[in-house]
Amino acid sequence: MIKTSSFEGDHILSVGQFQRENIDRIFAVADTMEPYAQRRRITRVLEGAILSNMFFEPSTRTRISFGSAFNLLGGEVRETTEVKASSLTKGESLYDTARVLSGYSDVICMRHPQAGSVAEFAAASRVPVINGGDGPNEHPSQALLDLYTIRREMQARGGSIDNLSIAFIGDLKYGRAAHSLSKLLGMFSNITFKLVSPKALATPLEIVDALRAAGHSVEEFDSLEAGIHNADILYVTRTQEERFPSQEEADRYRGLFRLNQEVYTQHCEPSTVIMHPLPRDSRAAAQELDDDLNSNPNLAIFRQTDNGILVRMALFALILGVADTVTAYERPVPWKSTRR
Ligand code: CP
Repeated sequence: MIKTSSFEGDHILSVGQFQRENIDRIFAVADTMEPYAQRRRITRVLEGAILSNMFFEPSTRTRISFGSAFNLLGGEVRETTEVKASSLTKGESLYDTARVLSGYSDVICMRHPQAGSVAEFAAASRVPVINGGDGPNEHPSQALLDLYTIRREMQARGGSIDNLSIAFIGDLKYGRAAHSLSKLLGMFSNITFKLVSPKALATPLEIVDALRAAGHSVEEFDSLEAGIHNADILYVTRTQEERFPSQEEADRYRGLFRLNQEVYTQHCEPSTVIMHPLPRDSRAAAQELDDDLNSNPNLAIFRQTDNGILVRMALFALILGVADTVTAYERPVPWKSTRR
């Protein structure tokens, strides 16, 4: 269990290790990271520290944002982006890999296709390990950035996380981001969960049972239109085809639920927030989240990705014990950002 006052030296493996006060602390530190993430200020508080980013599955957001977050705090990043580029292909064990890499690094982020593999790796590591996604199991930093986004979006609309109504849509069986976010939301009060999926891709029963046992309302739907009615947040997910036993089976479910502007206008409130952990599948056969929503101001998907930098900076600062000394290591900004 993570200590209330300090995260120093801890692994981040599962949202189950957090309590609400831990989440409040992460979010408070994330708020302080905004000027650095926006390049208005520069800090070198992690100068000399090395992150090893070990991604044994494809990733755009998680890998680059963990690396950018570490760089923005002044640290350096080393990366492996494929199993075949590592000595795992020569039969090296996770134990040996962890023993070796933790001699080279101060913190390690890891993504791996097998559930439980990152925890196994962490058990052998001499430095903190962050789970960047282990198979269909968990994606804790994604859930934290999603929750941080929900808090911001709801506050902007006069609401809060407590008493939220959220519709999870799509592949809820294999979607690790949905699993972690559901568990994290379960720590709050009076959440209405609307789980919209084909029956074969329903949320695992143990997650549903735990949410109900914690006093939340859980409703399951196999119709998109019925499930999104009266929701404050829509959390759309893609079919995780890489987790299916066969491509034929994945093809059966692709494109079943498609949220577009017309569906949104007919069935959602004008303020309903649209989220997606991304990547969205923009191929013609899928399009679970249509491009025609790109100009909808309630589409929060790119606010989510921006928030990911803040939350990941906060995790590094807390784990490496510098959350309260970031400003002491500021440098003048010698260049002008041209980002629009
Ligand atoms: N959301 C997410 O994990 O994206 P990537 O697979 O691109 O890292």
